[in-house]
Amino acid sequence: MLITSNAQDFRASNLVFVPTMGALHEGHASLIQQARQLSDQVVVSIFVNPLQFENQSDLEKYPRTPEKDAEVAKNAGATILWMPDFKDVYPGEVMMVEPGPIGNILEGASRPAHFQGVLTVVKRLFDLVQPKSAIFGEKDFQQLFLIKEMVRKLQIPISIVAGKTIRDADGLAISSRNVRLSAHDRDNALVIFQALTAANEMESLSEIQETLIETLSSKPEFLLDYACVVDEKSFEFAGEESFSKRALVAGWVNGVRLIDNMPMKARVR
Ligand code: PAJ
Repeated sequence: MLITSNAQDFRASNLVFVPTMGALHEGHASLIQQARQLSDQVVVSIFVNPLQFENQSDLEKYPRTPEKDAEVAKNAGATILWMPDFKDVYPGEVMMVEPGPIGNILEGASRPAHFQGVLTVVKRLFDLVQPKSAIFGEKDFQQLFLIKEMVRKLQIPISIVAGKTIRDADGLAISSRNVRLSAHDRDNALVIFQALTAANEMESLSEIQETLIETLSSKPEFLLDYACVVDEKSFEFAGEESFSKRALVAGWVNGVRLIDNMPMKARVR
């Protein structure tokens, strides 16, 4: 595996790209494995992007584990680990990418300017790497949606591939934040997966929504931010007639913010 800070070292026509902020876990590893099935040239980037953090302290607290990351990336099949410096990604004044109204709802409502920062860095990373495709996790479904929209609207010639959410055996979606949960917190956090799986058994939108709220409110130590169902194609709030519905949940357990989502089986009959 080549380890470099310079994108000039690896430009090629068949690159598949997996952008990350490091602290790599099984979720990232699965995206890298998926990338490797598409190409024998897989670039993994690690860049903790200041533009997408709301405050300096969150940015400073972000875990940095470069040695372990190199190990995880290599074992998962990465051929290039790219760790650019700030000045490589942002050499001068930056042209910000505006996400539009969907950037201001749900995750965007709790984290103003977050998606503007995400899209701006993803565009810069794409310009530097010029891959043929790039993989993003469904775990961050709104991010995935907005990146697909950006690629479509700016006509960027890169195909965006979605990776399935990887979960621990108990169902909790893997996240670098999970290490901050005690056993008791984890038990509370599991209500998210329980709510999504229970909702998935429901036949109508109204039952899905009721089940989400009922299940989530069964754990008073889970602080709900939002629980909603969107139409996967438009990211608008789903109607009964929406063909593909996805339930999205976000909240806090003991100060740790957690998000998750799941496609709903209920279709238009
Ligand atoms: P990061 O949080 O490091 O995530 C990198 C990629 O891993 C994203 O596409 C994310 O959706 C995916 N991922 C995270 N947890 C996952 C899980 N449990 N299962 C499957 N995939 C998972 O997302 C970012 O970084 C940044 O916003 C980035 C796109 C790199 C821009 O800075």
